[in-house]
Amino acid sequence: MRSQKIPTKENLKLSNEIDKLRVPKHIAIIMDGNGRWAIRKGLPRSFGHNKGVSVLKNIIKVSKNLDCKVLTVYAFSTENWTRPSKEVDFLINLFEKVLKKEISEIHQESIKIKFIGDLSPFPKALKSIISSSEALTENNKNFILNICVNYGGRQEIVQAAKEIAIKSSSGEIKPSDIDEQLFNSELLTHGIKDPELLIRTSGEKRISNFLLWQLAYSEIYITDVMWPDFNEIEFLKAIIDYQSRDRRFGGIQSLQNESCEDSNYSS
Ligand code: FPP
Repeated sequence: MRSQKIPTKENLKLSNEIDKLRVPKHIAIIMDGNGRWAIRKGLPRSFGHNKGVSVLKNIIKVSKNLDCKVLTVYAFSTENWTRPSKEVDFLINLFEKVLKKEISEIHQESIKIKFIGDLSPFPKALKSIISSSEALTENNKNFILNICVNYGGRQEIVQAAKEIAIKSSSGEIKPSDIDEQLFNSELLTHGIKDPELLIRTSGEKRISNFLLWQLAYSEIYITDVMWPDFNEIEFLKAIIDYQSRDRRFGGIQSLQNESCEDSNYSS
């Protein structure tokens, strides 16, 4: 994460185009296209996932430099279990291997890492490294990396509804207490403000059950570039595109100096 690259002409040009004060504070990413990228090169799909990890590392570094505060990435959906077991096993091993290798640097960089999703079906060894990594980085303040694994937006909403129903039937809350804020507090992303920008690579124009509640007003940027080819230049292009949007939130006027950060990013 710390390797210093000499900026290319294009990087410099795009960096100059960015309004540093309006960089999204929270960016969500659907890192898609690993498999197709590998197949097109005549390689096994696993090569795409391996390359995807190094791309993610680079994008974390670039995000931090731009003063973006939160990245939420979709690494494994509830639907991904339907893949051949060889690929599922590969991905599970990859998560474990990458965490083991990178956690000390993640901590040194003051990154707080959080896994979002139902971790129960994962092997003990992965659950254990996830829990120790989260505990180690819990108080880090520079940056938050949310990794969604065995995550599904609908499942998250159903789970939140269940929790609210339980609290309501036990008398802890009244049905009239239920509003967006209370609902939000039951989501796995509670305490983190919604992403201003969603990036999806590989040209697919779907949300694919990702952050269904949280993306309600996010700007969506879709690029044909496959995740293993995604880089700083493509990331800067996404942010420049975001900055060209007129964010009206259902109103008729752009919100000037919209606040991106009054929630507790470090919670
Ligand atoms: C989508 O490409 C990618 C995935 C399902 C896995 C993404 C995982 C990583 C990049 C590794 C991240 C690692 C850590 C530790 C967070 P795809 O396989 O769906 O590609 P395709 O659409 O071309 O088939």
